[in-house]
Amino acid sequence: MDKIFPIFANETNRKTMYNSKIIGLGYYVPDNIVTNADLIKVMDTTDEWIQERTGIQERRWVIEGSGDTSATMGAKAARIAIEKAGLTTKDIDFLIFATLSPDYYFPGCGVMVQDLLEMNTIGALDIRNQCSGFVYGISVADQFIKTGMYKNILVIGAEYHSGGLELNDRGRNVSVIFGDGAGAAVLSRTEEKGKGILSTHLHSEGAHAKELIVEGPNITHWVDDIMKENNPDDVSYYPFMNGQFVFKHAVVRFSEAIIEGLQANGLQSTDIDMLIPHQANLRISQFVQHKFRLTDDKVHNNIQKFGNTTAASIPIALTEALEEGKIKEGDLVVLAAFGSGFTWGSVIIRW
Ligand code: UT7
Repeated sequence: MDKIFPIFANETNRKTMYNSKIIGLGYYVPDNIVTNADLIKVMDTTDEWIQERTGIQERRWVIEGSGDTSATMGAKAARIAIEKAGLTTKDIDFLIFATLSPDYYFPGCGVMVQDLLEMNTIGALDIRNQCSGFVYGISVADQFIKTGMYKNILVIGAEYHSGGLELNDRGRNVSVIFGDGAGAAVLSRTEEKGKGILSTHLHSEGAHAKELIVEGPNITHWVDDIMKENNPDDVSYYPFMNGQFVFKHAVVRFSEAIIEGLQANGLQSTDIDMLIPHQANLRISQFVQHKFRLTDDKVHNNIQKFGNTTAASIPIALTEALEEGKIKEGDLVVLAAFGSGFTWGSVIIRW
């Protein structure tokens, strides 16, 4: 023990701060494509309405019985990210899992991934920040790496929305939007200056918690009550969204978070090479794009084919943008998110 303590102390008490860098990315979506035409069969909606209001043409939904869940999809995305990073699952020394649709009420999906990927008995942290979950996860990982506490951190965002949507006319404003999938990133320590995650910015406003929420079952309205009451009008276990209210706040908060991130680094919107907005609604992304006068090649959207995958949307879009050659070494990449809570934030990266 005498020999271990001095080494541990040296490591955590280092004065030099490290930087963190994304060195591997991956995503997984179920094969099952659900088009707007498929939704018309189960609710009163139209392809025109969905495309005009959200930009969505299709989304992926888990096939029941396929074994895909937030944890298993997250593990699939993570395997790819770890491989791309040139690491093995044993090299990961901490993992963060962001989801609003966990496999279980508890424990969280992080420990499921630790087991599925046969990782060491590393710390596994679940975070509950909905659409901002991945941005929050990157921020936490960045702090742990900066202090020297961990070297390689896996950050996962994954959602299995389709199992919990109200697929009828009453739930149509919400259920046409959401898609299933997972994305993952490996953040690693770097001593390069001015590279990697430059800064992260996190915010919340709990006064609006109930504007986008799944209320039940909760600890005061538990499954037992819901079953006993057997009330067909109890929709507390379906997502509720005050769409226009959320939309209005989203466009303001997205913009604020981006401005805050740019200002913190002495940058301007003209310095942005790639903006990856959380894929909430194509109209929100376009509003932000126009506000910052970004050309189409500087914003990556994929809500058209994947819908809104909440915590998974940024890592999926970031992986795609990188794979399509839209991000190059030295580029300024901005991630921005807003969602339920309300929570919002941004990440500024020098790639
Ligand atoms: O990712 C987390 C953060 N989420 C967001 O940022 C999402 C923000 N909100 C939105 O994206 C939009 O508000 C929605 C896409 C959810 C809704 O679009 P909207 O333009 O705000 O529509 P609305 O809720 O004001 O509804 C307009 C009309 C209503 O009919 P009436 O009252 O005008 O007759 C709705 O009943 O559209 C109707 N409607 C639909 N019609 C066909 C609502 N959903 C549908 C539907 N198909 N799926």
